[in-house]
Amino acid sequence: MNKIAVGCDHAGSTLKNEIIQLLESAGLSVLDFGANGESSVDYPDFGAKVASAVSRKEVDRGILICGTGIGMSIVANKFKNVRAALCHDHFTAKASREHNDSNVLVLGGRVLSVDMAKEIVEIWLNTSYSGGRHDKRLKKILDIEESLERKR
Ligand code: RB5
Repeated sequence: MNKIAVGCDHAGSTLKNEIIQLLESAGLSVLDFGANGESSVDYPDFGAKVASAVSRKEVDRGILICGTGIGMSIVANKFKNVRAALCHDHFTAKASREHNDSNVLVLGGRVLSVDMAKEIVEIWLNTSYSGGRHDKRLKKILDIEESLERKR
């Protein structure tokens, strides 16, 4: 894992800059899809850019930040192959990797302290997917995505 896309809306811009620093000092190559600054923007525009890059496997993983993390989660999980996890604590960050093989981490910029957000990112980067019994569940998610595609 070395290429990671990040995106946010105005409510996540400050935290995004902190997270980019952390990612770069961990040696990762970061693709920043914006937004930048505090001017009001629409989270679907930025969530879609990151989720699309993950979906097309142009990057290994993505991180999205909005105020609550809820809007970005809704957007990202519309994309095939994307398993976006909204994490507010250590436990959900770890479980989202071990159980769900999450490939997009979603954070709430108005929910988390900067320190907690950084801890969540570190856990999420450094935890491996457990496989085993979880494989068949992820396969079922893929089956749902493919059956929906066929109906379009
Ligand atoms: C922006 O005010 C806010 O709605 C957005 O950042 C996010 O929390 C949406 O889910």
